[in-house]
Amino acid sequence: MQNRRQFLQTTLAAPAVLSAQTSGQPLRVAVVGTGNRGTYLLRQALQVPGIQIIAVCDLLQDRAENAAGLVAKAGGKADVYTDFRRMLDTRKDIDAVIAATPDHTHRNVYTAILEVGKHLYGEKPLALDVADSRMIVSAAKSAKGLFQVGFQLRHDPNRNAAEAFIHSGGIGKVLYCQGIRHGRDLPRNIPWYFDKVKSGDIMVDQGIHILDLFTWAIGAHPTRAMGSGGTSLFVNDPPGRTVMDNYSVIFEYPGGVRVNMSHHYFDPPGFTGNQERVFGADGAVDLVAATFHPRESKETKQLDVPNAGQDATVRALTSFRDSVRDGRPVMSDAESAMVSTIVPLMGTKAIYEKRIVTWEEMTA
Ligand SMILES: NC(=O)c1ccc[n+]([C@@H]2O[C@H](COP(=O)([O-])OP(=O)(O)OC[C@H]3O[C@@H](n4cnc5c(N)ncnc54)[C@H](O)[C@@H]3O)[C@@H](O)[C@H]2O)c1
Repeated sequence: MQNRRQFLQTTLAAPAVLSAQTSGQPLRVAVVGTGNRGTYLLRQALQVPGIQIIAVCDLLQDRAENAAGLVAKAGGKADVYTDFRRMLDTRKDIDAVIAATPDHTHRNVYTAILEVGKHLYGEKPLALDVADSRMIVSAAKSAKGLFQVGFQLRHDPNRNAAEAFIHSGGIGKVLYCQGIRHGRDLPRNIPWYFDKVKSGDIMVDQGIHILDLFTWAIGAHPTRAMGSGGTSLFVNDPPGRTVMDNYSVIFEYPGGVRVNMSHHYFDPPGFTGNQERVFGADGAVDLVAATFHPRESKETKQLDVPNAGQDATVRALTSFRDSVRDGRPVMSDAESAMVSTIVPLMGTKAIYEKRIVTWEEMTA
C-alpha cells in the first residue's frame, strides 16, 4: 500500500510532455463530440485566450455545424467533420483535442487521439472498466501529447482552495467525508445516460465528481466498498432504463477514513441539493462554499479563494493550455483519473453484487 505522500506524488504527476507549445502561438484545438458537454466546453474554450478552435466534429452533422456556428459567432472559423480520424488525418495542424463523446466510447476515441500525438482534454470517466482504463493509461504514458481528464471541479476556485487547506493540514487528520448528490432525474434528451452499459450507471457517470474530490482530499485510494441502491421511482422510465435512481455507498480508506455518499434523483426543488464535506480532527470543510468550521467553536471561517467566482471549466481549460504551453503537470492525469474511475466502479460492483468489494480484487 502506498503512503499518502507516495500516492499524491504518483497520482498527481503528469507524463513527460515532449512537445511543449511554443510560447505566444495559439493552441489550435479541435472539439470532438459537440453534444451537451462538448458544446459547453466549446463555449468555455472560446473564452480562453490562446485557444483557437479550428475544427469541430460530431457523428451528427447538424451538431458539428451548430458548433462551427458558435465559433463563427465568436469571430473564428472551424472546419466541420463527422469522422474524427479523418479530421486528424486532414488537419495536421491540430495541436490538441477536446473530446466529449459518450462514456462507452472513451477507450477508442482517447487512445486514437493519443496515438497520433495530439494533446488531449478528455471527459470523465476515464473508461467503463479497469482493463480499458489501463489501456488508456498505457497510451497516455507512451504518448507525445499531454492528457488531462475532465474533472473540472478540481479547478473550481472554492473546491481548489478548500483542498489546498486540507492538504496543508488545516483540518488536522482527515477522518470522514460526506457527499450528497440529490437532484432531479437525468436529462431525457440524452438516451445513453439511462443505459448502464454505455454510462457505467449513475455513480460512474455522475457521482464520480464528488468521489474524485474526496479521494484527492484523503490522498489515498479506498480499500473496501459496500452499498445498496436501485431504481425506486423511475422504474422503466424512460422505457428500457437500466440505471439506478438512488444509492448509498460507503468506502473505507486506509487509516479508518470513511466516505459516505448518498445520491438520488427525487429531490424536491430547493431541498437538500449537493453537499461535499470533509471532516478532520480539528474541524470540517465545506468544499462547495470553501468554508472551515472548527470542531470546538461555532465560528465559520471563509477560506482565501484565489480566482474566486471564476468558472471551473474555464479554469480547467486555461490550466490545460498552460500545461501544454509550459510542460507543467496536469492535475487530473491518466493515472489519477484511473484511480478516480475505479472508485465508483468498485462502489457500483458492491451494490450490484450485494457484497463488500475490495480494491485488490478490482485491480488484480
Ligand atoms: N465534466 C462534466 O461535468 C460533464 C458533464 C456532462 C457530461 N460529461 C461527459 O461528457 C461526455 C459527453 O456527454 P454529453 O452529456 O455531452 O453526451 P451527448 O450525448 O450530449 O454528447 C455526446 C456527443 O458525442 C457524439 N459522438 C459520439 N461518438 C462520436 C465519435 N466517435 N466521434 C464524434 N462524435 C461522437 C454524439 O453524436 C453526441 O453529439 C461524457 O463522457 C460525459 O460523461 C461531463
